[in-house]
Amino acid sequence: MPPPSRTPLTLIVATTPIPIPNTPTPQIRLGIGLNGTLPWPRIKADMTFFARVTSRPPSPGTTNAIIMGRKTYDSVPGNLRPLAKRINTVITRDVDGVGERVRKDLERRREKLASSSSSASSSSSSAGAVAGAGAGATEPETDALVCSGLEEAISGLEEKYADKLGKMFVIGGAEIYGAALREKMPAGVRIVMTNVEKVGYRENGDVFQCDTFFPVDRELLEERGWRRASAEEVTEWVGETVTGEWREEGEVRIQMVGYERVD
Ligand SMILES: NC(=O)c1ccc[n+]([C@@H]2O[C@H](COP(=O)([O-])OP(=O)(O)OC[C@H]3O[C@@H](n4cnc5c(N)ncnc54)[C@H](OP(=O)(O)O)[C@@H]3O)[C@@H](O)[C@H]2O)c1
Repeated sequence: MPPPSRTPLTLIVATTPIPIPNTPTPQIRLGIGLNGTLPWPRIKADMTFFARVTSRPPSPGTTNAIIMGRKTYDSVPGNLRPLAKRINTVITRDVDGVGERVRKDLERRREKLASSSSSASSSSSSAGAVAGAGAGATEPETDALVCSGLEEAISGLEEKYADKLGKMFVIGGAEIYGAALREKMPAGVRIVMTNVEKVGYRENGDVFQCDTFFPVDRELLEERGWRRASAEEVTEWVGETVTGEWREEGEVRIQMVGYERVD
């Protein structure tokens, strides 16, 4: 029996508001995907936020886990998966088939990361820097695990990595967010959400088309079972300053917010 989880489970998600037509009071669904990918063009500020927050370990010698459905794993570009410096935990009903594929991806990725780090260290030592043997020894690992369900993923991570396990992030998609929201976690459940709006949404209702939705609507998050965290709390959760202010990038505006489950 694994020990009860020590850290809160954090869902990290980017959503865009989609008004539901013909409802007596205005209602918003939160779109997250379209045709197996994201509904919006690349948002650099959000992608780098996601990369920093999920890969920054809480203490030296630990590595964070990112838990995802098989479709989300497949939506990551082949040359970037498994994502570096994190334990990529993939949930599938085909553990053997997907496991074999992920194992090969991991070998290839580790080889590539090793060759780029050795060329970086040889160029830095030729520049006179000391490439200490211990440098990088406490760097987060790049690893992967394939599991048949979310509960098994959490207990598998805790058993396999024990004290080396950092934070646990659920990174999607809709099916796995749904499973995570049904999970009873002794240390709690949090959501770190990037709100994404098309510039023009507020003025003339322009939206990004979506076919996949976050399983909780905005009204529920704001009204029942959840508490909106302050910018200071979210800053503490993610390890970098989050102001809650809107900012614009190209054709979108984004804002980072946090929620904590209170029931
Ligand atoms: N906006 C965001 O922040 C964000 C984040 C992540 C993903 N997305 C988007 O969301 C979409 C993908 O979401 P999705 O809901 O379609 O797929 P998903 O949750 O990523 O993956 C679904 C897959 O997970 C496995 N699975 C689900 N429930 C399971 C269970 N109870 N037991 C075992 N395996 C289970 C199955 O894999 P098998 O078929 O292999 O059995 C299933 O096909 C994409 O468009 C993606 O770009 C958006």
